[in-house]
Amino acid sequence: VLMRVTVFGSANADLVFPVPELPAAGRTVLGGAWRAAPGGKGANQAVAAARDGAALRFAGAVGRDFLAGLALSALRDAGADLSAVVEVEAPTGAAAICVDPQGRNQIAVSPGANALARAAGVPPLAPGEIVLMQMEVPPEENAALILRARAEGALPVLNLAPAGPLDPAALRALHLLVANEHEAAWLAARLGCAADAVALHGALGITVAVTLGERGAEAAGAGGRHTIPAFPARAIDTTGAGDCWCGVLAASLSCGAPLEGAMRRASAAASIAVSRPGAADAMPRAEETDRLLGG
Ligand code: RIB
Ligand code: NA
Repeated sequence: VLMRVTVFGSANADLVFPVPELPAAGRTVLGGAWRAAPGGKGANQAVAAARDGAALRFAGAVGRDFLAGLALSALRDAGADLSAVVEVEAPTGAAAICVDPQGRNQIAVSPGANALARAAGVPPLAPGEIVLMQMEVPPEENAALILRARAEGALPVLNLAPAGPLDPAALRALHLLVANEHEAAWLAARLGCAADAVALHGALGITVAVTLGERGAEAAGAGGRHTIPAFPARAIDTTGAGDCWCGVLAASLSCGAPLEGAMRRASAAASIAVSRPGAADAMPRAEETDRLLGG
């Protein structure tokens, strides 16, 4: 069975600047030719899921301006259902992204319209449907959608990126929490536990997955503990790598894959995404990930 995936989150226009080194405070760095590309953690994750084969619906907010079309372009091309995207009186979200020759980045985001995304704008959810969220929209809207998802029988999944406070009851109502090492450390400090998946699962009582970059990923939940090695990759732009991981994980879970298999697929897809420039643009198609997995 293929369940629909709904992503509620941000859509941005990314302005990408290739730089010889990431600028330090007070410094000016001269770089190469800049590009404008679709981004935003919500849209990136939605594109990753749609390209991996999910029946994808995206809910979010853009402005009535020239950047809205760019922010939604990859979603449109991927055939996502955009009927729950609203136009609001605020500029489309934008990100200034510096990328160095090692593929490392530095990102400043202006949420703009994303700050006006509302959980109430998400249409009814189906039982068993995955609802994927990130932290680039107001946390109280995520909290409302998490509780609503539970009431409607859907499965709320949150990527805690970027890390920020969330209503504790909503956090504990999650089906799955995904965090990278920084976000896991931030959360662990607040909970007073160690910053690994096992400890976070123990503290929250929900399934927690922690992505570890070049060291793979680990997860802990009622179903046990899973450790997945990373796939070797030549990284040229890691922007959106975590988004790829989350989107493909959701797509895979929506086809009924067990968590460990979904994590393996997500890691394979992310290793492809980091080898290409851009965020949404870099998300692999299902066949590419299949090939890497030897399927
Ligand atoms: O996760 C990467 C994304 O973060 C970029 O596309 C940028 O828009 C920011 O939201
Ligand atoms: Na990339």
